[in-house]
Amino acid sequence: MTKIVGKSVTRLDAAAKVTGEALYPGDIDLPEQAHMKILFAGRPHAIIKSIDASQAESLPGVLAVFTAKDVPNNEYGLIMPDQPVLCGPGSNKPYAERVRWIGDQVAIVVAETEAIAAQARDLIKVDYEDLPVVTDMLAAMEPDAPLLHPDKGSNVILRYRVRKGDVEAAFAQSDVIVEGVYDTPMQEHAYLQPEAGLGYIDEEGRVTVIVGGQWTHEDQEQIAHALNLPLEQVRVIYPAIGGAFGGREDMSVQIVLAMAAWRLAERGINRPVKIIWTREESMFAHHKRHPYHIRTRWGADKTGKLLAAEVELYADAGGYAYTSTKVQGNATLMCTGPYEIPNVKVDSASIYTNNMVTGAFRGFGGPQGMFAAEQQMNKLAEKLGLDPVEIRRRNLIGEGSILSVGTPLPKGVSMGPVVEKCAGRMEELQNRQPAQKSHPAVKRGWGFACGFKNVGFSFGAPEQCMATVELRGNAEIEKAILYHAGAEVGQGAHTAFVQFAAETLGLPMEKVELVASDTATSGNSGSVSASRMTFMAGNAIKGACELALEKWQNEERPATATYQYRPPRTTPMDPETGKSEPNFAYGYVAEAVEVEVDTETGQVRLLNVICADDVGKAVNPQQVQGQIEGAVVQAAGYAVLENMIQRDGYLLTDKLSTYLIPTVLDIPENVESLILEYADPIGPYGARGMGEMPYLPLTPAITAAVHAATGVWFDEFPLTPERVLRGLGKI
Ligand code: MOS
Repeated sequence: MTKIVGKSVTRLDAAAKVTGEALYPGDIDLPEQAHMKILFAGRPHAIIKSIDASQAESLPGVLAVFTAKDVPNNEYGLIMPDQPVLCGPGSNKPYAERVRWIGDQVAIVVAETEAIAAQARDLIKVDYEDLPVVTDMLAAMEPDAPLLHPDKGSNVILRYRVRKGDVEAAFAQSDVIVEGVYDTPMQEHAYLQPEAGLGYIDEEGRVTVIVGGQWTHEDQEQIAHALNLPLEQVRVIYPAIGGAFGGREDMSVQIVLAMAAWRLAERGINRPVKIIWTREESMFAHHKRHPYHIRTRWGADKTGKLLAAEVELYADAGGYAYTSTKVQGNATLMCTGPYEIPNVKVDSASIYTNNMVTGAFRGFGGPQGMFAAEQQMNKLAEKLGLDPVEIRRRNLIGEGSILSVGTPLPKGVSMGPVVEKCAGRMEELQNRQPAQKSHPAVKRGWGFACGFKNVGFSFGAPEQCMATVELRGNAEIEKAILYHAGAEVGQGAHTAFVQFAAETLGLPMEKVELVASDTATSGNSGSVSASRMTFMAGNAIKGACELALEKWQNEERPATATYQYRPPRTTPMDPETGKSEPNFAYGYVAEAVEVEVDTETGQVRLLNVICADDVGKAVNPQQVQGQIEGAVVQAAGYAVLENMIQRDGYLLTDKLSTYLIPTVLDIPENVESLILEYADPIGPYGARGMGEMPYLPLTPAITAAVHAATGVWFDEFPLTPERVLRGLGKI
């Protein structure tokens, strides 16, 4: 029995965040700081012929203007360095003078005040030669399409293929076949604080950036790469972070802040540089969730047993790769749902266009793939006259099931019980519901969907996590200091870290001090992404504490230990068949939703959401509930409300007044979190990762509920009033 792991202890950062004492990057001011503004391209596809910054530079109060020629190694990117730090002539990279998206960065201005920096930015003259704008991802794959990256020879970033069994033979034997074409929308992360930070030279001469991110050491590496500096010359520190959701995985202000501080210091100006993006800048200048176009065909026998699934997935990557290939891997795996299907054929591609760049966002391709899978499953149930839960029972993955990629799932598959718990609770609510009198135009319905989400980096990506623990005292341990790089993005990670340490050391939490999120003091933790941090950090911290305790027994004072946790290895997809061991752990989730659709106004209201999640072990149940409710609200925005509109490569919804995210009046009236604990065999104290999975099946559960209410299948969302009324044939 654990004592501290499993307890809803109060979050360590709660008081500071409630009182306003917590400092987010934009709240931090350093003595003598200067201010930075970025000149963005503001056009989707062009070649920069020249940049004239002379007027800007001579404006009183301007310290410096930097352009592409000032970037030593003008490239970056999380999975491939296909993006210039600053677009324009004069750098060492071919095609860096091109802009490929409205949010490309062209110049940075450092000045005494933000207002002067903005004024100077507007004085920079850029001579552009516009290029044809590529906005249709399917057309972008055609051989005659203009190439965004001429050196790459194609707009297709990557293709994946999965081949299992013989789908054509299986379709010939199927009693029912359901075909569907689905389009999923972009989504903005809309975190509380826009991109912000400071760059300066620290007391040891390191180029230092204070910023909100998801992986300190990755930021450090990308800054060092672009500036051609040794890694140890760069330092990255995360203070409080106002949400991330995948939106802070890629660089935004990191490299330019570092470069500004470093180049100024070269000129003898040793002053910190600060930037805070406006909300509009945040909306057009960082990546969004990928829109996917999915064509799919599923076959089953008359008992509802799935025989075949064929899926084509196309992802609009925008101008640069960001994490497109990783997102695509996940979508490729998830698009056949949590089912054992004997015959599978999947083809997927990520494609460059001049639309908004797209990348990581909670669920990482899972929500897109799973929307298609669960929509198909619910349509199959309808066609066969089967209950949606019953058809799932006949196909769900279980212990030893072989995935589409030809290998068994890791042990600890709980999909069956998770579905039963959710379905059981749904039935209770359905039976309990008094037939409330509502307007005859208002229709109600329930929908059901389920899924699974990987924990950790997939498909052979190197995976590890470090932790260091120092035990101080003489006879007794008086204090433990835990050094860990993992980011607290608002999910409660740091509280969970201290819980793991206190539990393993047998100390009260007050005796554990956490030193976190600084490359100068911690080893590499990997990112806070892919639902991995609780699992990975938990194992690393547990390992470090156990080692430190051994040293303590051997009379070492202080007893210090560093432990690197490495999970079982994963393998990349075979290019022909997709055969791979994609992941070492998963979480399992099912959701049931009751909606109310006003068939006169097209409004969709979410009445009840039941979200059953196998989290393995709830390290802090209240935080788990927070993650579930947060994910449900975010997914509800995706499904019903958030409508990103682009035209010809321009973003028409770059404000929170035109791009609507859920407010308290839009969120589901009742969210029930069913927290299930089927231990993961290799999770720390049994814990699985869980930050993303409550997001995954919500949209298809909502569209199934809307179908139950109205008889109409919506294969595109968000379910705005206009889309709903069109679907109902009312407009
Ligand atoms: Mo995430 S989308 O794995 O930060």
